[in-house]
Amino acid sequence: MTSRDLLRRLAKSLAPVQPRRALVMAGRHLSDRAITRVATALGGLEQGHWLAGLRRETPNLPDRFALFDEAMGRLTGSRPLYLEFGVYRGRTLRYWTAHVRLPDARFVGFDSFEGLPEDWQPDAQRGSFAVGEPPQIDDPRVSFEVGWFDKTLPGWQPPQHDQLVVNIDCDLYSSTRCVLEWLTPHLEPGTLVYFDDLFNRDHQWRALTEWLADGGAAAQPVAMARWGHHMLFQIGQDRPSVPGAPATSTGPSS
Ligand SMILES: C[S@@+](CC[C@H](N)C(=O)[O-])C[C@H]1O[C@@H](n2cnc3c(N)ncnc32)[C@H](O)[C@@H]1O
Repeated sequence: MTSRDLLRRLAKSLAPVQPRRALVMAGRHLSDRAITRVATALGGLEQGHWLAGLRRETPNLPDRFALFDEAMGRLTGSRPLYLEFGVYRGRTLRYWTAHVRLPDARFVGFDSFEGLPEDWQPDAQRGSFAVGEPPQIDDPRVSFEVGWFDKTLPGWQPPQHDQLVVNIDCDLYSSTRCVLEWLTPHLEPGTLVYFDDLFNRDHQWRALTEWLADGGAAAQPVAMARWGHHMLFQIGQDRPSVPGAPATSTGPSS
């Protein structure tokens, strides 16, 4: 055996061990924030892998307001119902009321106004975004459901509408899951569902992938902003492809 063969054999035998050792050693020196960044990077890779498996382009728009404009362009009737989960000071809710001027549109904001019920990430702990009360929005088409989603949603019946638009901006996995469980039986072809924070793979991205994997929603991505940080889905007739599933599972349901 030549010394070259020997080196090759040594490198091969060490390969499964050494990278892991390097990672563990590096991890000893990383802060919570750095670990979150690494998880975010992995989430980005997963998302790109999933998008590639869809085998059609999902356009990337500059920001969430461009995505909202895209959603507004998809409104087909005169009575849309816009539900926002996570209102805070009402910035995005105001954008919608200012740009959808249809008199029969309705806008409902859901929020505890007590802030996040759990820690989200190092810079957004439990209680972040607490403002105590709904924002002042002088528009008779707007109303609020104040409280925790798991208390306000059971039994809540949406007012009459011809198209549902849902903005999920509540950051946490648990809150997003709760919204999606309520939402699933209310979905119809044409329903628009927007996710605000898919960059964190342990929270909204996880809730979204589980939702798609459960097969409850024929949701297809129509556009994203900031490279998948925000994403808009529309309910169609076909079952969605599932992040992490082999490419052969994509395509219409039988
Ligand atoms: C990031 S803020 C919303 C930002 C807002 N859409 C905007 O663009 O300005 C997230 C909000 O979700 C609310 N929230 C998160 N989980 C909740 C839950 N389970 N029940 C009620 N409110 C919740 C928090 O109170 C917080 O106001």
